[in-house]
Amino acid sequence: MRLEEEEGREELMKEESSLILPGGRSKSGMRACSGEMKWEERARDRGSSSLARAQLHIGYYSKTCPNVESIVRQEMEKILSAAPSLAAPLLRLHFHDCFVRGCDASVLLNSTKNNLAERDADPNKSLRGFGTVDRVKARIEAACPNTVSCADVLTIMARDAVVLAKGPFWPVALGRRDGKVSSAAEAANELPPSFGDIPLLTKIFASKGLSLKDLVVLSGAHTLGTAHCPSYADRLYNFSSSYAADPSLDSEYAEKLRMKCKSVDDKAMLSEMDPGSYKTFDTSYYRHVSKRRGLFQSDAALLTDATTRDYVQRIATGKFDSEFFKDFSESLTKMGNVGVLTGAQGEIRKKCYIIN
Ligand code: HEM
Repeated sequence: MRLEEEEGREELMKEESSLILPGGRSKSGMRACSGEMKWEERARDRGSSSLARAQLHIGYYSKTCPNVESIVRQEMEKILSAAPSLAAPLLRLHFHDCFVRGCDASVLLNSTKNNLAERDADPNKSLRGFGTVDRVKARIEAACPNTVSCADVLTIMARDAVVLAKGPFWPVALGRRDGKVSSAAEAANELPPSFGDIPLLTKIFASKGLSLKDLVVLSGAHTLGTAHCPSYADRLYNFSSSYAADPSLDSEYAEKLRMKCKSVDDKAMLSEMDPGSYKTFDTSYYRHVSKRRGLFQSDAALLTDATTRDYVQRIATGKFDSEFFKDFSESLTKMGNVGVLTGAQGEIRKKCYIIN
């Protein structure tokens, strides 16, 4: 694990030193999802409007920027061959974008003097990959100026991150436009927290037009990537008045995690969310969850509901990998439709970190 951690840091440093364009920034904060429960008051349903969906389509740029997908793919191949662990944060960026104001690239905007943007909200402080999005967008701008939105670039990058991590391919409908508003408070309120149980997670997903099945399928994204200690340490220490550690976490595994994550304040340590294959998009996440080794309470919660438990246990057998791949493609496509801006709404940002 040491080696992998070093590699993670090295990749992050590489990203920060070489992939960032002037004016762009990269993030490496430590806190994970910890949104307040006020999310429901803020949840907006701009999103799953069938009108917006109808305006996204496959081949949207076929006349205006026919090579957009091959340019993104080429760049992603370069980025991930230099830093394979960036696949996970790029997929997570797309998720955090879509859950706040819809998939409008609002997560990519920098804070300004008068506005604290989404990316500076607590749950987003551990996001990374911003510099790579800026780099890919710059390539696209050079080929097709003022044509392709940052929201579409991020959507294609997330799909390619999955493909290049040996996951499924699916065609992406395009035509999203970029938002002009980004609020840290909205991000803190609307992103699902790592301590979420099924009723809370179901409510949050439903507010985005996503089902219980989407929840269990999209949680499978935790087959990729790493987490910082504070995202799960409360399960290991002083869990409740009755339990020192979360009883829903396998006790041997909890012991191993305590060796890495020495205290709730340990911000440096990273743990693989799918130990053994955290850079490969596969079904082993479900095997860990089924053995009560999911890292977050939100992962463990999938065993507390009959529908999600059945799904976890079915995919965990390893006999239905292609079913999971198909489900994931469908659910991520659905997530990519949430709250999109189309037509004359929003703008096509020139640089993803600043409005035009
Ligand atoms: C179900 C609700 C979810 C919760 C509560 C949740 C929570 C978290 C947390 C706490 C982390 C670790 C952050 C850190 O400590 O650095 C994380 C990482 C991650 N999440 Fe989720 N997540 C959820 C759903 C999703 C979805 C829907 C996706 C994508 C479709 C996703 C993709 C990822 C990825 C790829 C990482 C690893 C990032 C990296 O390696 O930097 N998550 N998530």
